[in-house]
Amino acid sequence: MSQRETWATRVGFILAAVGSAVGLGNIWQFPFQTGANGGAAFIVVYLAAVFLIGFPAMLAEFVVGRRAERNPIDAFARLGHRNWKIVGVLGTLSAFWILSFYSVVGGWVVRYVLGSATGAYFSGSEAYFGAISAGPEAVGFHAVFMALTVGVVALGVTDGIERSTKLMVPSIVILLGGLAVWAGTLEGGAAGYAYYLSPDVDVLLANLGSILPAAVGQAFFTLSLGMGAMITYASYLGRDDSLPVDGATIVVLNTFVGLLAGLVVFPILFSLGIEPGSGGLGAAFITLAGAFAQLPAGRFLGVGFFVVLLLAALSSAISLLEVVTTYLVDNTDRSRSTLAVALGAAIFALGVPSALGVPILSWYNAIAYNLLLPLSVLTLLLFVGWADTDDAVAELRRGTDLSEGGAVAWLWFVRTLVPLGVLATLLLGLQSLAVKAGLLAAPLV
Ligand code: TRP
Repeated sequence: MSQRETWATRVGFILAAVGSAVGLGNIWQFPFQTGANGGAAFIVVYLAAVFLIGFPAMLAEFVVGRRAERNPIDAFARLGHRNWKIVGVLGTLSAFWILSFYSVVGGWVVRYVLGSATGAYFSGSEAYFGAISAGPEAVGFHAVFMALTVGVVALGVTDGIERSTKLMVPSIVILLGGLAVWAGTLEGGAAGYAYYLSPDVDVLLANLGSILPAAVGQAFFTLSLGMGAMITYASYLGRDDSLPVDGATIVVLNTFVGLLAGLVVFPILFSLGIEPGSGGLGAAFITLAGAFAQLPAGRFLGVGFFVVLLLAALSSAISLLEVVTTYLVDNTDRSRSTLAVALGAAIFALGVPSALGVPILSWYNAIAYNLLLPLSVLTLLLFVGWADTDDAVAELRRGTDLSEGGAVAWLWFVRTLVPLGVLATLLLGLQSLAVKAGLLAAPLV
């Protein structure tokens, strides 16, 4: 086994983790989930889920990763808990699964960069989405996106991931900020801000049973939790940085970018008179492309927007491929690049059905959101809270001036309230899957 790599700088780690977090989840899923779940009411629950459940769970992944300095599958044995290996296996398989359809959507984005440059969707954005989102062409662009991801991962942790995300993350923030300012000038956009920023308590209370699992699932997805990604990234932390400070930075930056994306998307939707919950998985693409088609500098703005989205999607896809690659890098003598290519090919194959039909993609997505993410986070929390306990507390405090009491408070949170919240989410998520499959006519709660 070769010498294990580490991040060159602390900023490098933070940006790589932010790059993992900020992705299609913020710009494609977030507006769509918000629209499907009652607007600002959803945002309230989502923000609570990010800070009360997502943040402590992220620290739990960091604690495991940094101490084990191993891939998520071997981490548990390394920490002296061989029986918990299943947690890592579950996360790694889930990363494999998520990347398979994530890359299909990434392929759409590549297609839209080109389509914006040529104005291909200007004559009808809905028809365009229908034509490019499924079929042989979608398979082709899925392959292109996967090849880009493999390219970065093959270069390695510092030269590939750290260097590329250092460039990508600031570009995303700058370009998105520019678009948000521009969206603020749109006529009729004010209704978008109202929908997005002022919660309706009645809507919230009446739909809590469906808002809760969607909001928690979204929090996990956007923070890259439950797939071993943060375990893996933390395993390259060779030094004594403060995990709570780094984690808080990552959570705040990711939330900021998500909210910023909403400030771009919602004014555009309302200025065009489009209902935000409509359009399903294609919503962001259809509506945004429709907006660019109507604007004077539409091609230019379109290319700008979809390039941002592509960078964001790539820096997230990298983290998913890294999870599976690192396991084999740690366990075989083959080179990182050979492994990345082989895994990329396998994940591409798993994603082909999603590229052949949007309803299939929607199923892959729903299984990830409602089942894999909550199950995987739940098992990890149980491990840290009930098996790793004292060692986890010590690891959280390493490199910080956090008091024993502060770390123990986190531990109790991770042992009790957080897993209960996730368990409730999991049950409600299974219910949503049953409704989607037609096994249940309507949700029971
Ligand atoms: N967080 C990314 C996004 O918002 C997606 C992602 C990357 C992810 N790595 C992950 C989701 C690990 C779950 C688990 O687009």
